[in-house]
Amino acid sequence: MNTRDTLYVKDGSLYIGAFRATELAEKFGTPLYVMDAQYIAEVCDAFVAAVNKSGEGAVAFANKAFAAVATAKLAAAHGLWFDVVSGGELYLVQNAGADMKKVLFHGNNKTPREIDEGLDAGIGYFVIDSLNEIELLDKKAGERGVVQDVLVRVNPGVSAHTYEAVMTAAPFSKFGFDVHGDAADVIKDIASRKHLRFCGLHVHIGSQIYDHSSYDTAIDVVTDFMRGLAADGITTDVLDMGGGYGIYYTDEDPKFTPRRYAYTVENIALRAREKSAEKGLKQPFIIVEPGRSIVGEAGITLYTVGAVKDFPGVRKYVAVDGGMFENPRYALYESRYSAMIANKADKPADEVVTIAGKCCESGDLIGKDMPLQHAETGDILAVFSTGAYNYSMASNYNLNAVPPVVLVDGDKAGYIVKPQTYRDLLRNNTVPEWMK
Ligand code: LLP
Repeated sequence: MNTRDTLYVKDGSLYIGAFRATELAEKFGTPLYVMDAQYIAEVCDAFVAAVNKSGEGAVAFANKAFAAVATAKLAAAHGLWFDVVSGGELYLVQNAGADMKKVLFHGNNKTPREIDEGLDAGIGYFVIDSLNEIELLDKKAGERGVVQDVLVRVNPGVSAHTYEAVMTAAPFSKFGFDVHGDAADVIKDIASRKHLRFCGLHVHIGSQIYDHSSYDTAIDVVTDFMRGLAADGITTDVLDMGGGYGIYYTDEDPKFTPRRYAYTVENIALRAREKSAEKGLKQPFIIVEPGRSIVGEAGITLYTVGAVKDFPGVRKYVAVDGGMFENPRYALYESRYSAMIANKADKPADEVVTIAGKCCESGDLIGKDMPLQHAETGDILAVFSTGAYNYSMASNYNLNAVPPVVLVDGDKAGYIVKPQTYRDLLRNNTVPEWMK
């Protein structure tokens, strides 16, 4: 557990803000996603200060990490821009009242409808990721009589040290144009289009990255590429370095504070500016796009312990009322988490258990071989660092309801996503005429 002012143990209980975790579980039920507003605000402020320390820039929140209207409002109030990757995410930030000029639309295969929606909303930048998108966007912008600002996603061919599913800039990635291949020609093509304005580049090298030297290498490669463009008379006004900073999940990971996370942002922005100056380039406006590092540690999932099954000498299962429908990350990536029995927070974590979900498959685990206090039916289990890519990747598998989300802000706590009912689960079910 990476403790902080709003996540701590007192009198044998785990606290989130002013609330005992057990109190939240009792009031709102389990499974329950809890998000800590103060932590999110603190990270946002630290990141915005960091990106602007050595020049001008912006922090765009990667909505894919956690998409809810209330947290988008919170991020916007702290000066964040938004990275959206679908019409749905665009709709969400519109509903949160975000300034559309501060929205970047990503995606390697935006649909014609999504392109229409982005243009109609008047978003700041499309981040172009395919030849097909150039054609469509130029044509559709032309039909509307507008010139759309665009960034181009480039692949610097840097391989970050993370797991393969989230590695994005390795040579085999499905994302971006290769800086050593067709990227320059693609940009020249864009620059010649009547309804597109080339504004800059976007790079995202992966997610859950601790080794920051990968960012440095990417910056070196991309600023070299910018120099090549400059030689052809093309200026890069904006450089978006993506997101991807690794967070604390288990005690094998560093325990950072928001301020320490912000050093990463500060260093990326500084290096990009220094390298640009060194290579005689115009100072680009620097954008960073963190998701996980803003909301990941802000989230704690609360469960009620149900069945406990011990296979002596083999494995002890502690089953909870959640599972892969609300946290699919073990099933997908064998992700690791740390956990605590919230009502036994001062007891030693002297057992090693596997936390199982309630779905009908053996791979439905929250984590394997985790240290935990002695668990009994009815205990409240807290799993930490679940704010990113849990709620946003949840499903109704086995027709389990996606848990509600409660936002805690000091001594206030309230729903930001309400509980799903059985009726909600069947809302879009219908029976065709001929079967009636
Ligand atoms: N920008 C772009 C273009 C991205 O593709 C991503 C993440 C981000 C920013 C934000 O990265 P972050 O700061 O959150 O690492 N589902 C996976 C993570 C997938 C990340 C996808 N792209 C997981 O649960 O670990």
